[in-house]
Amino acid sequence: MEKAWWKESVVYQIYPRSFCDSNGDGIGDLNGITEKLEYLKELGIDVIWLSPVYQSPNDDNGYDISDYRKIMPEFGTMADYDRMLQKAHELGIKIMMDLVVNHTSDEHPWFVESRKSKENAYRDYYIWRDGKEGKEPNNWGGCFGGSAWKYDEGTDQYYLHLFSEKQPDLNWDNPRVRKEVFDMMIWWCEKGIDGLRMDVISLISKTPGLPDGTVGKSGYGDFGPYCANGPKVHEYLQEMNREVLSRYDLITVGECSGVTVEEAKKYASLSGKELNMVFQFEHMDLDGGESFKWNHKKIPLTGLKQIMSKWQRELAGKAWNSLYWCNHDQPRMLSRMGNDSPKYREISAKMLGTCLHMLQGTPYIYQGEELGMTNYPFTSLEEFRDIESINAYHELTEKGVVTPEEMFDYISYKGRDNARTPMQWDDSPQAGFTAGTPWIPVNPNYREINAKEQMERADSVFYYYKKLIRLRKEYKIIVYGDYELLLPDSEELYVYLRGYQGEKLLTICNFTEKEITYRLPEELFGLAGEVLVSNYGRELLDKKILLKPYEAIAVLY
Ligand code: GLC
Ligand code: CA
Repeated sequence: MEKAWWKESVVYQIYPRSFCDSNGDGIGDLNGITEKLEYLKELGIDVIWLSPVYQSPNDDNGYDISDYRKIMPEFGTMADYDRMLQKAHELGIKIMMDLVVNHTSDEHPWFVESRKSKENAYRDYYIWRDGKEGKEPNNWGGCFGGSAWKYDEGTDQYYLHLFSEKQPDLNWDNPRVRKEVFDMMIWWCEKGIDGLRMDVISLISKTPGLPDGTVGKSGYGDFGPYCANGPKVHEYLQEMNREVLSRYDLITVGECSGVTVEEAKKYASLSGKELNMVFQFEHMDLDGGESFKWNHKKIPLTGLKQIMSKWQRELAGKAWNSLYWCNHDQPRMLSRMGNDSPKYREISAKMLGTCLHMLQGTPYIYQGEELGMTNYPFTSLEEFRDIESINAYHELTEKGVVTPEEMFDYISYKGRDNARTPMQWDDSPQAGFTAGTPWIPVNPNYREINAKEQMERADSVFYYYKKLIRLRKEYKIIVYGDYELLLPDSEELYVYLRGYQGEKLLTICNFTEKEITYRLPEELFGLAGEVLVSNYGRELLDKKILLKPYEAIAVLY
C-alpha cells in the first residue's frame, strides 16, 4: 500500500467553545487554544481538527455559518487565528478546518438575499419549493425535530433545512454555489491550513423530486434515502477534488451519515479522486432505537466487533478508514462502552484506547478522551444547552411517544452536551477552563479527572494515550498491517490479529469487569512476543492467561 502522512497521523479534535477560555467570558477561544498547543505537542498528536470557528449566530454552536471568511468574535479575531496557525506549525502540528457547506446560517448574506424574492440572483442558492395543498412540500422531518421545511411568508414558499430552521440547505445542483464554495476553500488553503473535515457532506445531493420518506415515530418522513449519498454526491466531490483538493497537500475526511462500506469505497478510494477518508456511523448507531438515537441501550460487543471488522476488512487495500470513539456529537465512550466508576475508569479508558488505536485507519481523539473524561451527571433540563437534546425532549414528550422521565434519562445518556462540558485542565474552580462562568457546567469530577494531575503521574490515561500515539509512529504494522478478528462470538473479549511483512500483532481487550481466561491462538505458540502496551503493566503473555477486569494488551510477534 502506498504510504501517506495522513495515514500515519493521529488527529485531535478541539471543540473551541469548550476547550480553553483565555479572557474569562466563559467561552473557549482561539487564544485559549494557542496557550494549550504545547500540551498537544506533549501528547504527540499530528493534526488538530478544529470544530467551526467562523462567524455564526450560534444556533447550532458554529455549525450555522454566516460568514465563511470571518472568525466568530467570541472566539477572537483573524489575527488570533493566524497566530494560532503559525504557532501550531512551528510545533509541527497541522490544522484541519471544519467545512460546513451542506447548509449555511439563515443570516448568511446569500440566504438574506435569497429569501427576498423569487427573482433574486441568490434565490437558487437554496432549495425553495411551493407548498402542497397548504402544507409542506413533502413529509421530511429535520434532524433537530419538526418539519425539514420552513414557510417563508415574503414569497409564499418553503425552504429546506435538514437541520435547524436557521440552517437552510444549499442547492449544490447550482454550479454557482459550487464555485462559491470552492473559491472559499481555496481562500483557506492559501492561508496555509492543512486539512478539511467536511460536515454532513454525504447529504449535499438531494434526489430530484424530493419524494416523501417513510414515516417514523416522530410523525415525519425519513429524508435519509433521498439525501444521504444522493445521486450526484460523487460527481460534486470529484469536481471539488479537481478544483481544490488536488492542488494542495491536505488531509480530508467526510462526515458521511448513512454511509455504507460500498459507498465509502467511492468517497475514500485510495485512487484519491474524492476524499482521504470518511466518518461512518454504523458503530455509533448500534444503540439506536425506534426513536432515533434516544434510548439507554447498551452497545452489544459482538455487534461492535462485527461492524468494526467489516470496515477493517472491506476497505483494506481499497479505501482508508477513520477511527473514533468520541466526538462533539457523541456521549463519552467511557460512559458508554467502558466503566466510568472510580474503580475502573482509568483502566477501562486505557482499554478502549488500546482497542481503537491498534486498528487500521487514522485515529481521532476527542478533547478530554485522553484524560478519561466521562458523561455529565445531569439533574435538570436547565443544564442542557444543545438544540438537538432540548428539541427532542419537547417533541417526543409532548407527542407522548416517550415519558418525560425516560426522555430525561435518554438525553442524559446520549445527549451531545456530554461531550461539550469544558475541558478539565486542573483542580482549580471551573477546572481551569475559565476565570468566569462557563457557558455550560463543568463536570464535578474535575477534581479527580484533570490534565494537570495526569501529567504529573506516569501511569495516567494521558501518558497511556501518548504511548498509543507513539507506537503508531514506531510500528508500521499498526498503520499498514492486515486484520483478522478472533473470537467473533465473544460478548466479553475483543481480540484481533494484525499482520505485516511477517510480523503479527495481537490485541486483546476485555470489555467486562470479570476475570476471563484467554488462550493464545496456536499459530503464536512458541513465538517470543514483545508487549507493546498493557494497561496492567503485564510483561509476558503465556499460552493461557487470566485477563483482569478491562484488561488490554497488544503483543508483537
Ligand atoms: C454535523 C455536526 C453537528 C451538526 C450537524 C449540522 O453532524 O457534527 O454537530 O449539528 O452536522 O451541521
Ligand atoms: Ca473567551
